[in-house]
Amino acid sequence: MGRKLLLDKAHIEGIRYYKTYRDNGGYAAAEKVLKNMSPDQVVEEVKKSGLRGRGGAGFPTGLKWSFLAKPEGVPRYLVCNADESEPGTFKDRYLMEFIPHLLIEGLLISSFALGANTTYIYIRGEYAWIPDILEQAISEAKEAGWLGKNIQGTGFDLEIYVQRGAGAYICGEETALIESLEGKRGNPRIKPPFPAVKGLYQCPTVVNNVETLATVVPIINIGGEEYAKYGTGKSTGTKLISACGNINKPGVYEIEMNISVEEFIYSEEYCGGIPNGKRLKACIPGGSSVPIVPANLLLKTAKGEARMMTYESLSDGGFATGTMMGSGGFIVLDEDQCVVRHTMTLARFYHHESCGQCSPCREGTGWMEKVLKKIETGKGTLEDIDLLWDIQRRIEGNTICPLGDAAAWPVAAAIRHFRDEFEWHVTHPEEAQLRSFGLAHY
Ligand code: NAI
Ligand code: SF4
Repeated sequence: MGRKLLLDKAHIEGIRYYKTYRDNGGYAAAEKVLKNMSPDQVVEEVKKSGLRGRGGAGFPTGLKWSFLAKPEGVPRYLVCNADESEPGTFKDRYLMEFIPHLLIEGLLISSFALGANTTYIYIRGEYAWIPDILEQAISEAKEAGWLGKNIQGTGFDLEIYVQRGAGAYICGEETALIESLEGKRGNPRIKPPFPAVKGLYQCPTVVNNVETLATVVPIINIGGEEYAKYGTGKSTGTKLISACGNINKPGVYEIEMNISVEEFIYSEEYCGGIPNGKRLKACIPGGSSVPIVPANLLLKTAKGEARMMTYESLSDGGFATGTMMGSGGFIVLDEDQCVVRHTMTLARFYHHESCGQCSPCREGTGWMEKVLKKIETGKGTLEDIDLLWDIQRRIEGNTICPLGDAAAWPVAAAIRHFRDEFEWHVTHPEEAQLRSFGLAHY
């Protein structure tokens, strides 16, 4: 069994509630920090741990924290990004729903380290039942003296507020999230300035993902150096992966970042293989924004070595041949799945979610959806495939926020790796139409 740091106590009955959480070692890290550590020492432990942001970008957390501006007399904020909306990603939901105190403890320690006295959890609107769970955990923690004024007699004050989003994917982008939290339309801001300098209400703000902040708890418990011994290379520690698609055991798994992709897909401990003995066709290992990878590239590197579930190994070769760890939304496609249809579905999603501020994204996402629909339904031409390639190329790198890139990359990767399938839709229009209506299979 792989070692666990976040979900090791998830099976304990009643762990959602303060008493059980506390009886099983909860708030020991908070106690250690408040009694024996300075804010700088906490930042140092997080730096030593090598923790990288678990929302998708993998930016080093300790480094992000050290960028936080500290002008005299200006409040600082910590914002927990719980707007988990990336298709295929549902690991933060699991943490918040089943072990909410792990997040609250992580928020307390992180707020202390950053000198933030007001912290927000911005949660995806569709997670309608989770704010109540979080509110209950917050009130239990407050009653036990872990939140409010003069926490545990240290002089440190902290309030945590839960804010629901209204169902816009773009509000997971940190600056759109901040705009929304301020009560405005969730339009991404141009960076720089980064939130660490000008964030919420133009004040220095750190925005971190749920899993990132929860991970601060085991880091403090075992120490940054010990945490860094988990995993391999620059992929230290454990990572939550939400696995779905054509696998026998969909669900949320905590993996130590030292196992191979093959082990993750086929072992009984994790996904349990592909149903009905079907062949693996492709995979999107890090949520819909990262490029799709065909099976041959997914399981082995160009050197013929096993591809690992690490930041480095998954992004090996850059976007040309590799992909990314991203948010850990692991979507598996078997041999029966149509990559063209799949890509069209994603294009529709990004078109719908574009905020419309920049022309390449606003116009390009809709255009890609239209062309993909034409090809998928057997009405496309070979020129349409080149047109599609051209459109995605003109979006990438030309927009305010990463949604433009996220819309372009899946299209680029699908054409690069599965061009023959696009061409088949053009050369076999009648069969393509039948497949499009769900009347025929591969
Ligand atoms: P990013 O690479 O632009 O930024 C990463 C973080 O580092 C940000 O918080 C940024 O403020 C900070 N940062 C970077 N350079 C900095 C500097 N010089 N000074 C101060 N701070 C700095 O990526 P971003 O936009 O945060 O995330 C994109 C990723 O999010 C995508 O790759 C995708 O995988 C993921 N994603 C996850 C979703 C989910 O539901 N979990 C939804 C959509 C996307
Ligand atoms: Fe809005 Fe798209 Fe531009 Fe992002 S890339 S700011 S979602 S239009």
